[in-house]
Amino acid sequence: MLTTYSLKMPRAVYSGENAMENLTAILRAAGAKRAAVFTDKGIKAAGLFPLVQNAVEDARVDYYVLDDIPPEPDCDTVQGLADRFREAGADMIVACGGGSVLDTAKLAGVLATRDYTVRDLLEDPSRARKRLPAVLIPTTAGTGAEVTPNAIVAVPEKALKAGIVSDAMVADYVILDARLIKDLPPRIAAATGVDALAHCIECYTGNKANPLSDLYALEGLDLILNNIEKACLDPEAMAEKERMQLAACYGGLAITASGTTAVHALSYPLGGRYHIPHGVSNAVLLAPVIRFNEPACRDRLARVYDRCCHEEERLRAPEEKSAWVIARLEEIVRRLKIPTSLRELGVPAGDLDRLAAAGMEVQRLLVNNPREVTLEDAKKLYQEVL
Ligand SMILES: NC(=O)c1ccc[n+]([C@@H]2O[C@H](COP(=O)([O-])OP(=O)(O)OC[C@H]3O[C@@H](n4cnc5c(N)ncnc54)[C@H](O)[C@@H]3O)[C@@H](O)[C@H]2O)c1
Ligand SMILES: [Zn+2]
Repeated sequence: MLTTYSLKMPRAVYSGENAMENLTAILRAAGAKRAAVFTDKGIKAAGLFPLVQNAVEDARVDYYVLDDIPPEPDCDTVQGLADRFREAGADMIVACGGGSVLDTAKLAGVLATRDYTVRDLLEDPSRARKRLPAVLIPTTAGTGAEVTPNAIVAVPEKALKAGIVSDAMVADYVILDARLIKDLPPRIAAATGVDALAHCIECYTGNKANPLSDLYALEGLDLILNNIEKACLDPEAMAEKERMQLAACYGGLAITASGTTAVHALSYPLGGRYHIPHGVSNAVLLAPVIRFNEPACRDRLARVYDRCCHEEERLRAPEEKSAWVIARLEEIVRRLKIPTSLRELGVPAGDLDRLAAAGMEVQRLLVNNPREVTLEDAKKLYQEVL
């Protein structure tokens, strides 16, 4: 457990019914004159963009839209978008989308300068400086990217995804409006929901866990473990969706004070090399890695059970409680019909050694893991999910 810890927070988080209506007031109060609005084609196709557009227009702010952001962009694509953004100029960023859009906008916000590039930040994130305020509006529930200081980009030549972490990328304003996740396709809702689950459980069981992160991680777990299936599978389950949106945000806040562990570390090469969506690769690894970690975090998993299992019959032994939690993780992935094997996702058996070597490079997260992961362990874990 960390003994010194800090929680990073946006200046304001707006949540609840029709929370999007706050956008107009935010832009007006900030005195914005020209906004850069980041989104993607999927958000537009889902018919969500007018919600943002109308609110921006109501604020009588000049604006332009950057919408050609691919899912899980690589660093050079992000640099290209940031260059266009810098040329066009703006005094406020509004980003509405999943983690890919939010991370791109966060990076653009610190790249509105010629002093350094995104590749420079991959080498030395401490160079990042905030250049303008940002309003982040997530449409998945989700990465928690709306509140984290992290931005994740693929690095093509390393076939890996890498995180850039800087307080300069913490949002100024966040809007959580459940209308934006109402019609999320079940496949995307499932993968992004399990990502939020992974954030909470990794932050709670990791070496960096501390009282501030525990608060958000445990509450997030309670919300997710008891709402995720209905929220993902029933388009009308607005209360459950709202809970997932909040839980995803809590997962992000937990990350700011703690950090993810081996699930995310081993998932990065799967995204980088095979372009498996972030939530899917985490879902494949979630239960196996937590089971591998169990001997080192049994009491913490037992506390997850105590807090989140609301069945009348109570288990008593810590090992029974931790087994319940791990079985519940497996059940969620199964019920949400997320693939559970790497072969199904196009990973050839012959690549395991390379994958394990790439996973071991993600020491930024592996050092948080409650149990040491050796190269042999990494190979075994990938083998187990092949
Ligand atoms: N910064 C962080 O702290 C953090 C944390 C976790 C993950 N990430 C990163 O976030 C990215 C993944 O983000 P994501 O999982 O939110 O998915 P995403 O942003 O990549 O979106 C996936 C697809 O879903 C579509 N989509 C999004 N919202 C929709 C909606 N409401 N309705 C219909 N379609 C919708 C998008 O258009 C896109 O095609 C990855 O790059 C991952 O590494 C960042
Ligand atoms: Zn994640």
